[in-house]
Amino acid sequence: MPFYKFTPLFETFKTHLQRYAIVFLKKINCSLQFYNYLWLFFEKISVMENIDWANIGFGYRKTDYNVRCYYRDGKWGEIETCSEETIPMHMAATCLHYGQEAFEGLKAYRCPDGKVRVFRSDENAARLQSTCRGILMPELPTETFNKMIDMVVRLNERFIPPYETGATLYLRPLLVGISAQVGVHPASEYLFLIFATPVGPYFKGGFACNPYVIIREFDRSAPLGTGIYKVGGNYAASLRANKMAHDLGYACEFYLDAKEKKYMDECGAANFFGIKNNTYVTPKSSSILPSITNKSLMQLAEDLGMTVERRQIPEEELATFEEAGACGTAAVISPISKIDDLEQKKTFVFSKDGKPGPISTKLYNLLRGIQYGTEPDKHNWTRVVIG
Ligand SMILES: Cc1ncc(COP(=O)(O)O)c(C=O)c1O
Repeated sequence: MPFYKFTPLFETFKTHLQRYAIVFLKKINCSLQFYNYLWLFFEKISVMENIDWANIGFGYRKTDYNVRCYYRDGKWGEIETCSEETIPMHMAATCLHYGQEAFEGLKAYRCPDGKVRVFRSDENAARLQSTCRGILMPELPTETFNKMIDMVVRLNERFIPPYETGATLYLRPLLVGISAQVGVHPASEYLFLIFATPVGPYFKGGFACNPYVIIREFDRSAPLGTGIYKVGGNYAASLRANKMAHDLGYACEFYLDAKEKKYMDECGAANFFGIKNNTYVTPKSSSILPSITNKSLMQLAEDLGMTVERRQIPEEELATFEEAGACGTAAVISPISKIDDLEQKKTFVFSKDGKPGPISTKLYNLLRGIQYGTEPDKHNWTRVVIG
């Protein structure tokens, strides 16, 4: 790599040049193709990591820094910057034995206007606080959460994938009980950290439909259990059902409500929605994670003049939906082609031609547009972290 690529002065110069070029090109209405070529040129001369961004997949990749904050003596300490990937902890830590562990997931988007945005991080902070109340961990203030999000994005700027690759910088906040306990009790000390890792686009072949399967042998969580919290135990409980679905050739497993096995609950690590008669219908359940993407889609559906219903969805009602999808941070919307119930020998088809439906497509484009700053953000959902 040429020496100038390490020069902060060169980076500053490049950033300004890039910004003015973008403003100028917008003024003269240049073609999108030319704009993309120019963008690629700027990326080529930047200090960015030399990664095949379009093919990185959804795995862990080391970045430069993570940020950490310890809770000791009843209070949160100073934020620390760290380049270690490991956590030193006591072998009797409560996160290892009693599942005192919570996490979150959100993304930083490099946008075509040159800025880097995060989406609704206040909501992730609030959901983490709800999880903390659920499993007796100290709540991290939203302000500290957001400050650490901004820090980890800025510190790992060279790992934020270029806009046109569809890849993003995934942010993983993690809170663990680290002090020793042998009896089943909450810890007195905690570590909150956020790491960042670049992840590829969810849809390699573009926004596409996938088949799902109802798994009746396993429940992900109980009606009064921890399904509404983002704790590791729920994911451990989903591993066998998920493997079963994949082994059978499906994209993902679907859970019914654990009590009656009658209502639609969640699909894998995503919420479910169905569309019919200009209505967006999504399950109301005490055992599913309140998805921030779903909450946003409900608002956007309402903005589009649709009716929004959050209620129990009996399995038979699937037959009446014109479109269906799974939603979450990873894919925004993953349209569902069909849901099979193998035990009951039923199939519910939502896409006869294998293509996503018009409303799912509209919602997907709208939400992605807001995340990338190309659609008006009238609800103030995004925050510019690098401007
Ligand atoms: C179980 C589960 N449901 C739903 C979601 C979607 O939530 P969000 O839209 O906040 O990413 C996730 C992902 O975090 C999840 O793990």
